[in-house]
Amino acid sequence: MPINYSEKIPNNVNLSEDKRLQRALESWQPNYLKWWNNLGPNESTDYDVYLRTAVSVDPKGWAHFDYVKMPDYRWGIFLTPADGERKINFGRHQGETAWQEVPGEYRAELRRLIVTQGDTEPASVEQQRALGLTAPSLFDLRNLFQVNVEEGRHLWAMVYLLHGYFGRDGREEAEAMLERHSGDPDRPRILQAFNEETPDWLSFFMFTFFTDRDGKYQLASLAESGFDPLARSCRFMLTEEAHHMFVGESGVARIIKRACEIMTENKTDDVHAHGGIGLELLQKYLNFHFSVSVDLFGHELSTNAANFYTMGLKGRYQETRIDDNHLLTDHIYKISEVQGDKIVQVDAPALTSINERLRDDYIADCQSGVNRWNKIIKKFDIDFELKIPHRSFHRGIGSFSTFQATPEGQLITQAEWDTRQSEWLPTDEERAYIQSLMIRVTEPGKMANWIAPPDRGINNQNPEFEYVRFN
Ligand SMILES: [Fe+2]
Ligand SMILES: [Fe+2]
Repeated sequence: MPINYSEKIPNNVNLSEDKRLQRALESWQPNYLKWWNNLGPNESTDYDVYLRTAVSVDPKGWAHFDYVKMPDYRWGIFLTPADGERKINFGRHQGETAWQEVPGEYRAELRRLIVTQGDTEPASVEQQRALGLTAPSLFDLRNLFQVNVEEGRHLWAMVYLLHGYFGRDGREEAEAMLERHSGDPDRPRILQAFNEETPDWLSFFMFTFFTDRDGKYQLASLAESGFDPLARSCRFMLTEEAHHMFVGESGVARIIKRACEIMTENKTDDVHAHGGIGLELLQKYLNFHFSVSVDLFGHELSTNAANFYTMGLKGRYQETRIDDNHLLTDHIYKISEVQGDKIVQVDAPALTSINERLRDDYIADCQSGVNRWNKIIKKFDIDFELKIPHRSFHRGIGSFSTFQATPEGQLITQAEWDTRQSEWLPTDEERAYIQSLMIRVTEPGKMANWIAPPDRGINNQNPEFEYVRFN
């Protein structure tokens, strides 16, 4: 079904045939815009931004590119079309027809999953709101804004489900999405990683590489849901998420390239003396963002996760490609835990290890990205390798959170951690150094000194294209 842009809220869900829902969403819309104006990207209201907008949900060619003022962006409700006879593919309802309505007995659990996912979307917009003032190029500024409007749309996707399927308490949850704010001491966002600031562009690129990738894995698991409207919402969100991770991966890749150029041209290891970002410091930012992102997968053993699975609400990554009985009643899964002074692998029930399995899938995916980064360094013949820290490093959630470990996964005492953590995580001085590099570049095609230009532009435009007009 094509997207109807003649309506106040663009959609492909026949919104005009459900007047009650349409009215409910139209009354939420001004609150959303108020939130965007107050807590969305700083000072961006008058800019014309070269953005992509979804014009169909066809996997090929769903995007249309043009200059848009961000408050006029057409946020809407787009679901991947239903595939006729979709079945529930796991848990105790395996083989039954997927639900088109919320099953009464799972209402609370389903609402909780949707609210938790939905809350992260506006949170990241809030975290990133100041970055536009220090963008290293127009290309990057445009990419930031693209990510921001799509995170706003992801909120719309979850709010549609709350309004459309949960009645009054759904509407209340939708309001609360705009009342909690990232870092607000009284009404913080639900997950801790979404209350941290994104203070600079290195953090932004690491965030979109590591934390948006957590989003990919959460969405992919929800895309397996037996509740079909949720599954179809998440499928379409995943197509947008891919761009966010591209922004992160290519952003860090360009910083690496620039560091290697500086090292080669000046025959030095001191990249900072030449205004770049050194590979050792990149490693520290990587350590930080990886460790806060792996926390987002939750506890290694979780009865909640097991219940969500058995109920058919949230599956595993690529559930239908896994060759087992999709019930997991007497399967085992290997997880890591501390025994004595060592980290060992133990057998755990697969059903309660669902979080850890998703974390494993995520870590493998991160590793492939880091391998691509290392190829750039290799090309310059520089002897340095970026590494993903061990999962026990710097954890705030799960069984490792009560221990301290090195990035190699050696358990250490709290005293050793206190004296050595500055070897592994960015110090205040290093964060201040990164901050000192954050100066806005607005000339088309020009880049800040610490980042290399992109290999290609957006939508086949040149890197020199005027991606943002300030007016
Ligand atoms: Fe998102
Ligand atoms: Fe995202």
